[in-house]
This record gives sequence, C-alpha cells and structure tokens, in this order.
Amino acid sequence: MFRFVLFVLSLVVVTSADIPKTTVPGRTTPPDGAILVQTTPSETSFVSLQAAVNSLPNDNSSKTIFIYPGNYFEQVFITRPGMTTILGYTENTMDHTFNTVNITFNLSSAETASNNDKTATLRTHKDNFALYNVNLLNSYGIGHQALASSAYGNNQGYYAVGFYGYQDTLYAFNGTQFYGHCYIEGAVDFIFGQHARAFFHKSTIGSVAPGAITALGPFAAQDVDLFVVSSSKVTASTTANSSLNGKVFLGRPWTQWARVVYLNTYMDVVVNSAGWEIWSNSTPNTDGVFFAEFNNSGPGSIGPRASFATILDSQEGYTVADVLGSAWASWVDQAYY
Ligand SMILES: *[C@@H]1O[C@H](CO)[C@@H](O)[C@H](O)[C@H]1NC(C)=O
Ligand SMILES: *[C@@H]1O[C@H](CO)[C@@H](O)[C@H](O)[C@H]1NC(C)=O
Ligand SMILES: *[C@@H]1O[C@H](CO)[C@@H](O)[C@H](O)[C@H]1NC(C)=O
Ligand SMILES: *[C@@H]1O[C@H](CO)[C@@H](O)[C@H](O)[C@H]1NC(C)=O
Ligand SMILES: *[C@@H]1O[C@H](CO)[C@@H](O)[C@H](O)[C@H]1NC(C)=O
Ligand SMILES: *[C@@H]1O[C@H](CO)[C@@H](O)[C@H](O)[C@H]1NC(C)=O
Repeated sequence: MFRFVLFVLSLVVVTSADIPKTTVPGRTTPPDGAILVQTTPSETSFVSLQAAVNSLPNDNSSKTIFIYPGNYFEQVFITRPGMTTILGYTENTMDHTFNTVNITFNLSSAETASNNDKTATLRTHKDNFALYNVNLLNSYGIGHQALASSAYGNNQGYYAVGFYGYQDTLYAFNGTQFYGHCYIEGAVDFIFGQHARAFFHKSTIGSVAPGAITALGPFAAQDVDLFVVSSSKVTASTTANSSLNGKVFLGRPWTQWARVVYLNTYMDVVVNSAGWEIWSNSTPNTDGVFFAEFNNSGPGSIGPRASFATILDSQEGYTVADVLGSAWASWVDQAYY
C-alpha cells in the first residue's frame, strides 16, 4: 500500500512537471492598482477610456488602465508624460482576433478643417506608451482621411491591436514605435506618417479595396523617417467586397523622400507585380524615394518590380535595433518580437 501511494505520488509529480507550456496566455482580470473601464457604471470604474485617462495625474508616474469587454464610442486623447499602459480584456494576449474591446469614432478630415490627427479615434501625443489587445476603429468609411490611430511620440508599443479604417487608418507621425502581432486594415495610404521610425512585426495587413498600403511624407532628404514591415503578411480583408488580386501596392510616396522596407513578409495575390506605385501622374514623387524589399515570399512578392524600387541583398540597416535604436529592448515587450 505504501509503495503504491509513493508510486501514484511520483506519477503525479512527473506528470505536472511535463506539461508543456502551451496554455494560451489570457488577461481577464486587472493587475493590482489598475484604473478600470467598463460599460456598466460602477463606483470603482469609468464608462469611457477618456474619463479614465483624465483621472490620471499629469506627471511622470507609471499608470495602467484595464478595459473590460465592450463597444466604446468615443475619441481619446492622451498626453500625460508618465508611462501609460492600456490593457484590453482578452483570453489570448497574443492574437488580435480575440480582442473584446472596440473603441470606435467616426470623424473625417471634412469635419476637422483637413487636420488628419484630429480625426483619430485614439490620439497618443506622448512618449512612453503601451496598448494591448484593443481594436481601434474609425467607422467614417469612404471619402476622406479618417484615422483610427494617431501616434506622436517615442517608445510607443502597440501589441495585438486591431486598427480598422478605410483611408489613412494608422498615422505614425513622429518618434519611435513598435507594432507587434497587430492587424491593420484599410484601402488607401492606410499606414502613413511623416517623421516616425516604425517597426511592424509579425502583423497582418488587410486591404479592403484597391490602393497603396504605406504613404510616407517627410519634408526633406535628411529626415529620419523609416517604416519597416518585418515577418508579416499582406492580404485582403475578409470584408473586402471584390477581388483585390493585383490591386494592392506596398506603398506610394507622399513625398519623394519616403523610406519603406518590407522584410521576410508573405505577400499574397493581392500585391501587384510592380510592388510600388507613383503618388500621382502629375506628381510621381519617385526621385529620391527608397522603397526596398528583402526575402519576401508568396505570389505577390514576384516582380518585375517598379523601376524606382530597390531589392536588398541583406536586412542590414533595417533590423529592429537599426530602426528603433539600440535601447529598443528596454521598452519593446519581447513577447511580441
Ligand atoms: C518628468 O521628467 C522629466 C525628465 O526627467 C522632467 O524634465 C520633468 O520635469 C518631469 N515632469 C514632471 C511633471 O514631474
Ligand atoms: C469589434 O470590431 C471588429 C472589427 O470591426 C468586429 O469584427 C467586431 O464584431 C466588433 N465587436 C463587437 C462586439 O461589435
Ligand atoms: C458619427 O456617429 C454619430 C452617432 O452615430 C452620428 O450622429 C454622426 O452623424 C456620425 N458622424 C459622421 C461624420 O459620420
Ligand atoms: C512630435 O511632434 C510634436 C508636434 O510637433 C512635438 O511636440 C513632439 O516633440 C514630437 N515628438 C518627437 C518624438 O519627435
Ligand atoms: C462594400 O459594400 C457595401 C455595400 O454596398 C458598402 O457599404 C461598403 O462601403 C463597401 N465596402 C468597401 C470597403 O468598399
Ligand atoms: C527569409 O524569410 C523566411 C520567412 O519567410 C525566414 O524563415 C528566413 O529566415 C528568412 N531568411 C533570411 C536570410 O532572413
């Protein structure tokens, strides 16, 4: 009997030690000290993200906000200097398709005197920011610039975030930004910027209609602007109304100094064989442009590419450390790299 108990005990110990770490990482309870947001009013939470943000001190302290599932219809503006982390409730932190929090607004540049930034559902004008497992949507639709996200600042990390819009969905204006395991949807110029260095990694880019994915518009050749899309996938959104085969371009130059690189990325049939397109017939903006690729795969990676495109023979100069600086690992969540 004693032998038997020992045997059973050792069996239990061995078994639990052998369980592989395949459990999906969820986040369904707030961390200690987090400010709470939920749709149902309560004395211990806010009903909008902006109200929670407004409750934070305008200082250098680190603060965390946790959002329970729901559809929040609001525009959010964040400027406080301290590290600010926003977490959405999810049963799988690594996968945007599990997101339960939608933040939606519907402004377009027709309502903001042509100011792109002011249309954004989330405007993040600050350094030191992290957003996890939230969908940002601009539901305006077709017709004008209508941003889901406008990012002004250094050390901004977006993790398993869904960005949904049509024209100009994601604005990386300036600073250094990391987008990991994200989903970015739109039709025209839907990843755009001016002076930012942004690294898009292990993300999916989904087109809803024909057009160019990226549009960078730095003011001068010596600008620091650089977008790198790495280990990602370019495809059609499941909500696209018609076949986009050959109708999507990797980018077009908002100005002639645009710098965009795609590395190790799968491109399905939506990508046109020319890869890149001119800004417009009257203003092609291709003189000085740097549109480059390395080691992409899939039917959309096959040329012949446009005459102003570059094929690299290594990723040297375009790694995450090159794009975001040698201190990148101190602020980018390594789980999403
Ligand atoms: C925050 O930190 C910066 C840099 O250390 C400092 O210049 C600034 O005064 C601080 N701001 C506040 C509100 O404490
Ligand atoms: C949140 O937005 C996504 C993307 O548009 C949509 O698929 C999903 O149905 C929305 N969730 C809810 C609860 O409306
Ligand atoms: C935005 O949505 C609100 C509420 O549904 C609606 O009243 C308004 O007309 C919409 N605005 C635009 C520009 O679509
Ligand atoms: C981004 O631009 C804004 C507005 O011009 C400026 O206040 C801010 O310092 C800039 N941030 C970075 C990181 O360049
Ligand atoms: C798809 O078609 C619907 C219905 O005609 C329309 O409302 C929607 O704007 C279209 N979407 C796109 C991305 O063109
Ligand atoms: C090329 O990309 C594939 C992914 O498609 C990756 O596994 C491989 O390591 C890459 N090769 C180089 C030289 O980076």
